[in-house]
This record gives sequence, C-alpha cells and structure tokens, in this order.
Amino acid sequence: MIQPSRRPAVDKSSRPPTERRKPVALHVAVASEDQSYPVLIGAGLLARIGHELRRSHASVRRVALVSDSNVMPIYGEAARASLEAEGFEVHAFTIPAGEQHKTVEQLVELTEGMIEASLGRRDALVALGGGVVGDLAGLAAALFMRGIPFVQCPTSLLAQVDSSVGGKTAVDLPAGKNLLGAFHFPSVVVIDPEVLQTLSDRELACGLAEMLKHGALFSRDHFNQVVECADRIFARDAEVLARMVASSVALKAACVSRDPRELGEAGKGRVLLNLGHTVGHALERLSNFTLLHGEAVGLGLIAAARLSVRKGVGEPDLEQQMRNAVASLRLPADLDHWLGSFSPAQLENALSNDKKRGATDPARAATSISYIALARVGEPTVQALTAAEIVALLRESNPSC
Ligand SMILES: NC(=O)c1ccc[n+]([C@@H]2O[C@H](COP(=O)([O-])OP(=O)(O)OC[C@H]3O[C@@H](n4cnc5c(N)ncnc54)[C@H](O)[C@@H]3O)[C@@H](O)[C@H]2O)c1
Repeated sequence: MIQPSRRPAVDKSSRPPTERRKPVALHVAVASEDQSYPVLIGAGLLARIGHELRRSHASVRRVALVSDSNVMPIYGEAARASLEAEGFEVHAFTIPAGEQHKTVEQLVELTEGMIEASLGRRDALVALGGGVVGDLAGLAAALFMRGIPFVQCPTSLLAQVDSSVGGKTAVDLPAGKNLLGAFHFPSVVVIDPEVLQTLSDRELACGLAEMLKHGALFSRDHFNQVVECADRIFARDAEVLARMVASSVALKAACVSRDPRELGEAGKGRVLLNLGHTVGHALERLSNFTLLHGEAVGLGLIAAARLSVRKGVGEPDLEQQMRNAVASLRLPADLDHWLGSFSPAQLENALSNDKKRGATDPARAATSISYIALARVGEPTVQALTAAEIVALLRESNPSC
C-alpha cells in the first residue's frame, strides 16, 4: 500500500551524513537520441537534488518524492529539505520495500495518489531508492499525464551503477520480471555514494556483481580494480566508492549511448549487458528469489565463463578467473551446487522463459537465446544457443549435478 504524506516521520539520529560534506560532482553525459542527461556522482549530492531539478526544470512547482519503506525514513527528510529549499511543493509517496511490490497495483496507487495531490503535467517526480523504486517510479513518470520529467536518485549500489542509468523503467507481471515498461530518460541522475553507509553488505555485494559485469564486458582494468577495491568498498571508503561508481557508470553509459533503445545489432549494443543474466535470471527464479538478483548474476558470470571455454571461444582459465573474482566480492560462487539443485528440465524451462530469447537469430527465434559469452575479460561475443545446449554445456563434465 502506498502511503502518501506531505511530511514523513524521520528519526533524527539517522540523519544522513551527506549534509556534512561538500559535494564533488563528476559528470557522465549519456546521449539518448536527441537529448542527453548528466549523471552526477559525489559525496553529499543528496542535499542538491532540489538544485539539480530546478536547474533542469525551472517552471516545475510540485514534486512527487517516491521512495520505499526502508529508504524514506532514512533519507526522505534530506531529499524533501533540498527540494523545499528550491521552492518545490513536495508530496511524498512510500512504496513497501521489495521486488514483490514492483507491481501494476503499486503503479496505479502511486499515479492515483499523484492525481489526488493535484500534480499535473508540468510537475515532476523524484525516485529515491534502489532499483525497485527507480523502475516503478520511473514508469509512473513515463505514464503520468503521458510523461513528466523525473530525477533518479539511486540509493543501492546496484541502482547507482546500473538501473538508474539507461532509461529503462518497468514493473513486473505474474508472467515475469519487467514485462510492463517503457523507456523514459531521467532529466538528471544524482548519485550520492554516502547513502551506501546504510545499505547492507549483502545488497552491496549485489551491486559489485554488476560492476564486475561492466569490467568483464568492457575493461579488464575495471574488472581488476573492482576485485582489488572490494574490501575498501565494503568498508564504505568514500573516495574509493565515488571513483569506482563513476568508472562503472561511465562503462554502462558508453554502452547505452550507442544503443539507447536496445535496437542495436547483436553483439554491438545494450544486449551485451545481459552477460551473466541468462543463467542468472533462471537461477534467481528457480531459487524462489532466495538468491538476490546480484548474487544470481555472479553465478551467471561464472556460467558465462564456463560456457565460453567449453564452446571453444573463451581462454582456458576464464572460468577460474571469474570464480575467483566473484568469490572475492563475497558472492556465492559454487555454480555446480546451484545447477545441481534443479533438474536439467527445470533449468531449460527457466532459460527458455527468459524474455530475451531469440533476439539474434530470427530463424531459430523459437528456441535460440542470444547468449553473451567472453573470449576473455573485456572481449564479449554473442552466441546463439538453445536452452538445451546451454544446460548441456554447463553440466558437461559433471552430469550428476
Ligand atoms: N532499469 C534497469 O536498467 C535495471 C537494471 C538492473 C536492475 N533493475 C531492477 O532493479 C531492481 C533491483 O534493484 P536493487 O538491488 O536496488 O533492489 P531494491 O530496490 O529492492 O533495493 C534493495 C534493498 O535495499 C534497500 N535499500 C536501498 N537503498 C538503501 C540504503 N541506502 N540504505 C538502506 N537500505 C537501502 C531497499 O529498501 C531494498 O530493501 C530489480 O527490480 C531489477 O529488475 C533495473
């Protein structure tokens, strides 16, 4: 149930540290067709959301501040204060935390609440939270009055390095994740790494999985640095966080800028970002979401490395490199344990239900999957494979699993 309020109750002892530091902003321009939007990264930027929104939308009067039941009590007041300081009339909406609430029902409640609060087509929305809030609130902004401007203020590491950049918004349907969505590009993305102080280590590790993926696809340097910096990231070292988040965002931004709406040729555009996600999504679903998304992606990266080697396209020790990297990020790395938890038929079924299937090879669309493999770290390649082929390759040397 979405709880609208003009003034959320806030525990003052949990006031975020962002108010204590001067922001140092980095800029990453993300080209999206006829427009581009800045991604600002720096400690203390939460206190500047109002300023950034005013700068991009001088005439906006009312703002829907959307967050979830974990994040709103911690950071809601700082965001509100920043917006009110710029003269915005703020209406706060709190969504229950968790993927199970990324639903059409919550979307409708939110937009109805915005109508009750008299927001109109000249007003704006601020999404303050993890990927669930960003995706759902972003879709609300895309649909409300045929589209209003919105600001992404991601508060989980996964949302900072991945979901807030690129303009994909969505809610889940009973048939699968992210099946109802739209491209709607934010006016600005405001990333304050200091909010990660309150994120759990388990959620932090999930963000590291996506950062590792960016390195595995586009930069061996980044891949190595994510591993080398992991301990300082878990220690919430502000300087390291800002630098590593910025370099991961830059890699994703370069990719989505080449292919803003995922129309690019196989192997050249956003489809590459599915590395680790084909098997990852299948394991996430089969585990009944006991594996978090980033944990499943970590296993999916190991699977991609294994499959690349067995298909003859990857260098021989790629799987070992990937397993070591994933384990050093405190993520589950025992792929055989997870593959062995499900029958081949269950795995094939989960893989062939992935909505990304059939994108590379129209002739085999009914059965083939655009599987992102690696020649080596930093060198992706796309393979058209059936679900049965993927499962067979992954289980080849260990048929008992
Ligand atoms: N749009 C895209 O391009 C894209 C890309 C990747 C993932 N996603 C989506 O992102 C979602 C996953 O995002 P997520 O991992 O951020 O999940 P999430 O939004 O559920 O956040 C994870 C948990 O951390 C909490 N949290 C967030 N920030 C916090 C903070 N600073 N302090 C304390 N707690 C905090 C949340 O309340 C939640 O309980 C999925 O729905 C996925 O489909 C979208």
